[in-house]
Amino acid sequence: GKRTFTMIKPDAVENGHIGAILEKITASGFNIVAMKLTQLSKRDAEEFYAIHKERPFFGELVEFMTRGPIVAAILEKENAVSDFRTLIGATNPAEAAEGTIRNLYATSIGENAVHGSDSDENAAIEGAFHFAGREIF
Ligand code: GTP
Ligand code: MG
Repeated sequence: GKRTFTMIKPDAVENGHIGAILEKITASGFNIVAMKLTQLSKRDAEEFYAIHKERPFFGELVEFMTRGPIVAAILEKENAVSDFRTLIGATNPAEAAEGTIRNLYATSIGENAVHGSDSDENAAIEGAFHFAGREIF
């Protein structure tokens, strides 16, 4: 697959890391084909993370993801989903490889700076959740 979907999460936006993260993404060969600064409503976050609704951290996750603006983007590259997950590193920044985005910019397993889709199918669903066709280039 050629596309993935990402969000720069509220912690990284608050901490002033938008520019550094976008620089790392484009320097790693991803083209930005859609992008915006936006904020998730509670309903948006609950729908987006519905797969985690039975997990003990679900309430905390929704609270976190809605507390401020995020950058949503669709990225294009060969093997986009898997290469992007390599670039961001493990969910828990304590386990994220040296030089990955989460290693550099995440603060905790919950507040971990970026999202990356976990499959081509979810990348398409998540991209369509945030962008109209005319916003994708
Ligand atoms: P995403 O790219 O955001 O989907 O992260 P991921 O695929 O690396 O992890 P996963 O889909 O399993 O979890 C989704 C998000 O839930 C994580 O990125 C964290 O923000 C949050 N999360 C996961 N595990 C925990 C946890 O143990 N505690 C808390 N507070 N949040 C968690
Ligand atoms: Mg995930």
